[in-house]
Amino acid sequence: MNRNRHQETTEITELILDAAAKARAEIGVVGKQAATGKSAKWPIDCTIGPGLEGAIACESKVGYVNGGAGLLSYRGYDIFELCAYSTYEEVSYLLLHGHLPTAEALRDYEQKLANYRHMNQTLRLLMSFPVEKMNAMAALRMGTIFMRQEFTSLDHEEAKPDLLDAISADEDSIAMETKPSGERRAIYEFKKKKSRKKSKKSNRDDANGLEACYHLIAGVPTITAAIARLRQGMMPYEPLNELSHAGNIFYMLNGRRPTPIEERVLDVALILHADHGMNASTFASMVVASTMSDIYFSVGSGIAALNGPLHGGANERVLHTIREVGSPENAGAWVKDSLAKNEKIPGFGHRVYKTYDPRARILGPLAKFQCSGCTDEIQNLISTAEKVEQEVINSLAQEKKIFPNVDYYSGVVYTRLGIDPAMFTPLFAVSRVAGWTARVLEYIQKNRIFRPRALYTGAFNREFVAIDER
Ligand code: ACO
Repeated sequence: MNRNRHQETTEITELILDAAAKARAEIGVVGKQAATGKSAKWPIDCTIGPGLEGAIACESKVGYVNGGAGLLSYRGYDIFELCAYSTYEEVSYLLLHGHLPTAEALRDYEQKLANYRHMNQTLRLLMSFPVEKMNAMAALRMGTIFMRQEFTSLDHEEAKPDLLDAISADEDSIAMETKPSGERRAIYEFKKKKSRKKSKKSNRDDANGLEACYHLIAGVPTITAAIARLRQGMMPYEPLNELSHAGNIFYMLNGRRPTPIEERVLDVALILHADHGMNASTFASMVVASTMSDIYFSVGSGIAALNGPLHGGANERVLHTIREVGSPENAGAWVKDSLAKNEKIPGFGHRVYKTYDPRARILGPLAKFQCSGCTDEIQNLISTAEKVEQEVINSLAQEKKIFPNVDYYSGVVYTRLGIDPAMFTPLFAVSRVAGWTARVLEYIQKNRIFRPRALYTGAFNREFVAIDER
């Protein structure tokens, strides 16, 4: 790996390496992750809570999250190393292919992304709708689905899935048995199936193969930037082929080329958001893919899931919160008051991390770096954020294991890059599309339709009462 490629932004590399050293000092094992990698032996016995907490839905080699220790890696590479030495282009290639690209493979991939970034047909279709009046995530979802029409044969008969590949969704036909209601444990059995006949190469391969993933990784940013422009009543910018992925996103959003620092900061933020285990939006994408729908619909459902404030929508609210707190002096009283009202403070807590989120370990110092030497207003924003963090950690870290998550500082980072808060969650999707597509591609190799059950707690044997007697 060429470690000099970030030579114009060595401050950022150092800041990331410092964050890694701090993490290592606190948890001791960054880069030395627990040995996993063995194929599981089904059935797996696990404890399941509401929201499928604890359930194991599949095996994956894409990424690893250890919430107890605060570790995150993609395809075996530690997140700190990837942020310090890599680029989003390389990381998205890594997620999809399972290995880092050679220089030649990277050039080819970058060329494909450059070609796919131009999506005039899709943008024309998008612009025939009142995008400026729509929720940005709704518009992004719509635009992503419009990208299907660039592979125009998707709805043709010969492009439809081979039925031999489809598995019945009928509950009784699924080799899964739960113990009687009230039990906390369930046995999941995924019977080894006879190897299914491989569908013949068809147009569908284009829609569920690597090309469609490249198309989505390149195209979702173009749609996002177009939405940002249309919301301001302006026409989208054409991507510039000579710019990097992050450079293009910055350019299409702001109408000027980024400085090396701006480009690198955005690139690091993209790497940090690219994949994260079986989070809600990834699971949503995989559920849709498992029905043998195509990858555009899958990514569309990931976007829909990401929209919620418990998932990707938190960073916009973090910024409102910090502005509402107003100054570091108010932080203590504000946090105390929120907790007394039983409110959840946006940007804190995580279903998986019960320690400091490694992504926040990088985004926090990045935000501080971007704010240094800025106006009093911006310095106040970052000081207030840091003080709120300290107060929340003092109140909740020990007892409830609540720490800042990825969303806590990303809003400040994006604001410093001139990005409108309404576009924060779409920007999350721009990055996560790599994780969604990588996991979908992996899963459909051994597809089995997702079909959990509900524990029925309703009534039985109720007698129907005619409407005039109710
Ligand atoms: N502020 C204050 N208290 C919190 C917070 C918070 N942000 N998050 C959790 N808690 C408390 C809960 O009140 C609960 O306390 P209790 O046991 O006394 O009832 C306890 O911690 C456990 O919380 P749960 O909501 O059960 O944790 P869960 O794992 O289900 O939720 C979630 C995780 C949704 C992220 C939650 O922490 C939250 O709502 N955070 C704020 C929103 C946010 O930042 N979302 C972004 C997450 S990162 C991402 O998706 C990219």
